[in-house]
Amino acid sequence: MKKEISFEKGQFITPNEITIPYIEGDGIGSEITTVMRKVVDNAIEKSYNGEKYIQWQELLAGKKAFEQTGSFLPKDTIELLKKYRIGIKGPLETPIGGGIRSLNVALRQVLDLYVCLRPIRYFEGVSSPVKNPEKVKMTIFRENTEDIYAGIEYMIGTPEAIRVRDFFINEMGVSSIRFPKTSSFGLKPVSKEGSERLIKAAINYAINNNLPSVTLVHKGNIMKYTEGAFKKWGYDLVENEFSEKCFTMRQYGEIKNYSGESVAQTMLEKAKSEGKTIIKDVITDAFLQETLLRPKEYSVVATMNLNGDYISDQLAAMVGGIGISPGANINYSEGYAIFEATHGTAPTIVGLGKANPCSLILSATMMLEHIGWQEASNCIIVALETLLKEGKVTSDLYDQNLQTKLLSTSEFGDELIKLI
Ligand code: NAI
Repeated sequence: MKKEISFEKGQFITPNEITIPYIEGDGIGSEITTVMRKVVDNAIEKSYNGEKYIQWQELLAGKKAFEQTGSFLPKDTIELLKKYRIGIKGPLETPIGGGIRSLNVALRQVLDLYVCLRPIRYFEGVSSPVKNPEKVKMTIFRENTEDIYAGIEYMIGTPEAIRVRDFFINEMGVSSIRFPKTSSFGLKPVSKEGSERLIKAAINYAINNNLPSVTLVHKGNIMKYTEGAFKKWGYDLVENEFSEKCFTMRQYGEIKNYSGESVAQTMLEKAKSEGKTIIKDVITDAFLQETLLRPKEYSVVATMNLNGDYISDQLAAMVGGIGISPGANINYSEGYAIFEATHGTAPTIVGLGKANPCSLILSATMMLEHIGWQEASNCIIVALETLLKEGKVTSDLYDQNLQTKLLSTSEFGDELIKLI
């Protein structure tokens, strides 16, 4: 029986029995992966009366891979992820300032997973540092393959750094390198193709899910030809290819003079009356402030790699922390996707039963939805909503004042399964 998902004309064909590869990950990875698999198996069993089934296949990456094969990211792992198209992973350790390259970045680049998708929502019962966390409901499309994450960096004093410096000073006439003798250098490639495919994915998502707006977040006032170009290419794309379903803030500005705060509301009303999605833009620093002051005005967000990194974690913190925020890395054109826990390996709590498995479990719900097993996804989400509302949480979300009930990682999984 065929067990891999096929991808034809942009659509998945998912057989009833599928193989899903998983990477446990380092640190708390094995604890949360065990719980996630149990929860997912249970939800599928209950949703489809045994007609559908996941056969899990472990793939090696990170420390476990190194111990068993001598490589942190064995070739087999890449080949099998390509074969099965869809996979799920726990966190992988990345040493800072040297050592192995980030395995996460390597996986994203090798499969060209150009979208990092991070849906952010609030679950009642979870303590949050903001007054109205329920107003935060955004989906971030972070570009995943370009920007400073391309890894083009040269360390101070190396022949490469000196060559780059001399090229810029002598051949390009650059005079603004403040300390040329003691600078390291990094390059920030942002392409039209890369920006367009990311923005397209965000717009399609907004249209398919009936969402009111897509906001392009950029620092184009300073980085005019990279981040500023991202915004321009985005607006050009929408006006050329999506004019029946969307309109841009740039067009709106031409149609009518507007001023002040009411503009967002007026644009929303116009979009609603015409059944269209608004495409607007905000500068990154202003956006971070906006997310705290007016989160309701933002829905889908499309941004470049580094901005997306900061924004994702800030929004996650607003709804209760990275322990509860899911994510996926997706190539919509070729159908590859790796769903993942968005937090790290949490080295200080390994083996203590303190790890919150929610991020990985919610990533698994995104995976089930992605392959068309919506019912199983929904039943996990409803159970999780109930459990968290009852105040049953792991130690990261435990708050004596809120009379929450503390559960270990595995107890949390068992309670969740009881509710499925
Ligand atoms: P971290 O996310 O591991 O930890 C930050 C804080 O959050 C710590 O206090 C930790 O205990 C807590 N925390 C994280 N996940 C939790 C969970 N599920 N339940 C309860 N508490 C949780 O970030 P840190 O310390 O910066 O990184 C540690 C390692 O993880 C590094 O090697 C880093 O490179 C790697 N990392 C990997 C990621 C990935 O694989 N996607 C993402 C972020 C970091």
